[in-house]
Amino acid sequence: MNKLHLLRGGILAAIALLASCTHGDGPVTDIHSFSDPTSVRTTHADIRWDLDFEKEVLRGSVTWTVARGANDQAQLVLDTKLLVIETVRVGTAGGMRTAAHTHTGGSEVFGIPLTVALEPGDDRVEIRYHTGEGGACVQWLNAGQTADRTHPFMFSQAQSINARAMIPCQDSPGVRFTFDAEVTAPGGIRPVMAAENLEERGANGAWRFRMPQPIPSYLLAIAAGAIEFQPMGPRTGVWAEPSVVAKAAWEFADTERMIEAAEKLYGPYQWGRYDIIILPPSFPFGGMENPRLTFATPTILAGDRSLTALVAHELAHSWSGNLVTNATWSDFWLNEGFTVYFERRIMEAVYGPARAEMEAVLGRDDLMTDMEELPEGDTVLHVDLKGRDPDDAFSNVPYEKGYLFLRLLDETYGRERFDPFLKAWFDGNAFRSRTTADFVAHLKKHLLDDEGAAIRLDEWLYRPGLPENAPQAESDAFERCEALAKQFLAGEMTADAIPGKEWITHQWLHFLRAFPDAAPVARLTELDQVWHLTSTGNSEILMQWGLAAIRSGYHAGMPAVESLLLKQGRRKFLKPLYQELARTAAGKARALELYRKARDSYHQIAVNTIDEILGWDQ
Ligand code: BES
Ligand code: ZN
Repeated sequence: MNKLHLLRGGILAAIALLASCTHGDGPVTDIHSFSDPTSVRTTHADIRWDLDFEKEVLRGSVTWTVARGANDQAQLVLDTKLLVIETVRVGTAGGMRTAAHTHTGGSEVFGIPLTVALEPGDDRVEIRYHTGEGGACVQWLNAGQTADRTHPFMFSQAQSINARAMIPCQDSPGVRFTFDAEVTAPGGIRPVMAAENLEERGANGAWRFRMPQPIPSYLLAIAAGAIEFQPMGPRTGVWAEPSVVAKAAWEFADTERMIEAAEKLYGPYQWGRYDIIILPPSFPFGGMENPRLTFATPTILAGDRSLTALVAHELAHSWSGNLVTNATWSDFWLNEGFTVYFERRIMEAVYGPARAEMEAVLGRDDLMTDMEELPEGDTVLHVDLKGRDPDDAFSNVPYEKGYLFLRLLDETYGRERFDPFLKAWFDGNAFRSRTTADFVAHLKKHLLDDEGAAIRLDEWLYRPGLPENAPQAESDAFERCEALAKQFLAGEMTADAIPGKEWITHQWLHFLRAFPDAAPVARLTELDQVWHLTSTGNSEILMQWGLAAIRSGYHAGMPAVESLLLKQGRRKFLKPLYQELARTAAGKARALELYRKARDSYHQIAVNTIDEILGWDQ
């Protein structure tokens, strides 16, 4: 057992430190936070940040407004991780004084609780602090790691439990707060937050932001760099570096149509504007649904609008996730499964059912691949995360098994019943955090007629694997791709007879996924000569091709792998490629060589995953 595991064990024993929040039927415990929101709850944050790009430090203060429970509990416990606490003061709007506090204990994974003593009547707590070394929330990039290479860049990624490495907070999705923020940054650097951007500037030229809707801590987000804004519609636009912004605005031109489709399905968009920021390539995710401002990887800029399901997905979170939030990380499928379902409904409305079905088939394949490798417990929708960073259990299960469950409800009860049912869930629980049990209660009350026996409710939510009644998406176009793949691999047709010019990205992906573990190198060579897959600008095809190249020992395809590993840091691409390389001794040596070069440029979230895959210990 390594040090980390011992520490994780230690945290489990410290049951007294569990967070809980008042809820439908009583308090819900969040095992991933030290805070105790039932006694003292943070409701509003006043944030002052200065971005020090030279030292790569975020420095400033937060003043929390707190609501005290009936028992007037005399302490506020906040989560922190790798933060340096400078001063702590408490009091009221009328006056503040230095506070007694402790900042010790905790663990490497969950950080250190900051406990502040309160007197009766105190409703403000101000903490001055700065970020320390490491930490999995904020990544600082030098100019060379950006698109235009002129200025440095920084961005945060708070989900799941990283907000505490940016700000002392009750870092639990069951706690919501509004905020005001003032941010200073060096000349040439434009900070943006997932919030309302106020036009007027504050003291010292500070940029001002305001979030009037209550959000959980994992949706607090900031990015800053030499970025520009380009509007797409009255309520939509993109932020990106100058060389990227026009390309991005073109790629996402359908955003307003997506919002309209979403509103028609499940009610008005509640957050005012919907903008997208394209981050530098080290962003570890495809997208992150930060409210009013989706954070996105540049790897979805394919030049043909083929990867914009990601926008539909992050937009859908404006309902499933941001409006109705998973109360704990074990309920994560309530965020992601609902969002994938909603995403595909948006895609169906905007681009037609054929494309949405292709996406569902690809999603189910991803799910089956994961299910084969995951420990049984991690294939359960309501997942047990005791003692673990929620990020360690990340997989396609909450996404695609969750999707299939909602699709089963849709197919079983019909959309005329299911759509109003889902809309009522969003309406009735807006700006609230909800558990799996809450959803079950809603289901039993408003949709099921037999306690869920027919749909096997219990099996879907609480048992491993994929229930037999899982819906099966089907695509005729995909069946043709599969047939062609077989013929091509068998040498019954040449590469130039493949109708690739008519194919959309999804068809290429399905075609390549039909390749066996060791497809003949001669076939890959011919395919590459005709279709130039090794140099494609489409990141999804590039990854699928890179995997085929590794599996088949097609060395001429290795530049595809290298470009994905060295030039971008999206974990979804890194993980399978490193895993595939690590299957052979020679591949593993190559993987380590590439990782040694690239590791410093990846975000900590990706580093954690790849360290584990490669057994990195240096
Ligand atoms: N909220 C997630 C990203 C996330 C999940 C970050 C868990 C940290 C912890 C986001 O909405 C997401 O699911 N992104 C996907 C894209 C989507 C199209 C499936 C991604 O980044 O791949
Ligand atoms: Zn999502």
